[in-house]
Amino acid sequence: MSDDEHPPVEGSWRPVCPRNELRAGALRQVSLGRNDMGIPVSVLVGVSARGELFAYANLCKHLPIPLDGGSGDFFGGDVDTLRCGTHGALYRVSDGFCTRGPCRGTFLRRHLVRVVADQVWLCVD
Ligand code: FES
Repeated sequence: MSDDEHPPVEGSWRPVCPRNELRAGALRQVSLGRNDMGIPVSVLVGVSARGELFAYANLCKHLPIPLDGGSGDFFGGDVDTLRCGTHGALYRVSDGFCTRGPCRGTFLRRHLVRVVADQVWLCVD
């Protein structure tokens, strides 16, 4: 058994779903509870149109609120762009960079994500 077949045991890794359940344009939302202000905290896990995994904190860089504003709609016109539903900031899924909006030039907080034995794992540190 290679290292890639063993579940991660260091840090705060959580199983997300089988890799074959992720497809471009459909996010998994991993809840991390609530922050000190009582705001729900979660991580968005998805896959780009090219099949690359990504995981970002579900938190706009403009104001401390979830990207979707509670709507459940995270995409900005295509499967490789996340959109903040409050003021329309757009973020590339490839690197989390904000290309448009009041927080242009900033990055979403990235989380480590990996596949082990066809299972997607997320680091919540
Ligand atoms: S709260 Fe997200 S762009 Fe303003």
